[in-house]
Amino acid sequence: MIGIFDSGVGGLTVVKEIFKYLPEYQIIYFGDTARLPYGTKGAGFVQKYSAKITNWLLDRKAKIIIIACHTASSWASVSLKNKFKKIPIFEMISAGAKDAAVLTKNGKIGIIGTPGTIKSRAFENKVLKINPDAKIYTAACSLFVPLVEMGFVEGDVTKKVIEEYLSPLKGKGIDTLVLACTHYPLLEKEIKNFMGVGVNIVNPAESLAKDLKNYFESNPKIEKQLKRGAAHQFYFSDEPYNLEKISQLCFGKIIKVKIKDPF
Ligand code: DGL
Repeated sequence: MIGIFDSGVGGLTVVKEIFKYLPEYQIIYFGDTARLPYGTKGAGFVQKYSAKITNWLLDRKAKIIIIACHTASSWASVSLKNKFKKIPIFEMISAGAKDAAVLTKNGKIGIIGTPGTIKSRAFENKVLKINPDAKIYTAACSLFVPLVEMGFVEGDVTKKVIEEYLSPLKGKGIDTLVLACTHYPLLEKEIKNFMGVGVNIVNPAESLAKDLKNYFESNPKIEKQLKRGAAHQFYFSDEPYNLEKISQLCFGKIIKVKIKDPF
């Protein structure tokens, strides 16, 4: 199984891309709704629960781990990779940073995410490693997550909030914008409208799914360990709020979930 975890429902946007590019593999998903949000928590907290969740997924026979949460990818991917050396661990930063660094023509890249993701500078550093001349502009868009969770993925309120957070980036003349948070792809239509046609939007979930497909092709031993065709498993540590809406937006149907807090 492919083990995927997030702080809550947002990671379903990552599952959506994995289903698109790798539809045959069974996944097990854990959303830590009991401790959500991760975006405003400290690094230590995020590292601690990311390790607990990874252990739990491995106990349930996950053979590969995907950190769908950008905040957890930012704060915890290094510690997880050190702790679980034998398991392939994928995070949201590497693939998205690579795509952004390649796509930009004028070298001006915007990165938006939770306060934790932006504070960690993980994305920024990754892009600069690939393209040291890039100019990076970041913004923590704290209201985007609650907007999406309340179902406001379009409309006047959403447009206003997007304008408030993204105007400074637009003013810098960026030509590439990275949606470095699980929820933001659900705002992509309005974000695109606001930023205009000249700005490339990078959805790291899609970048990751493509990278994973390539990885499986070049690592058949690992690929062979994954289960195919069996039912997917979705676990949440507490009732996910507005799951119906998010699930409909991602999959066009409501998924069946189990509620279990193992911690
Ligand atoms: N999943 C988080 C992320 O991608 C957003 C929600 C939260 O703050 O927990 O950073």
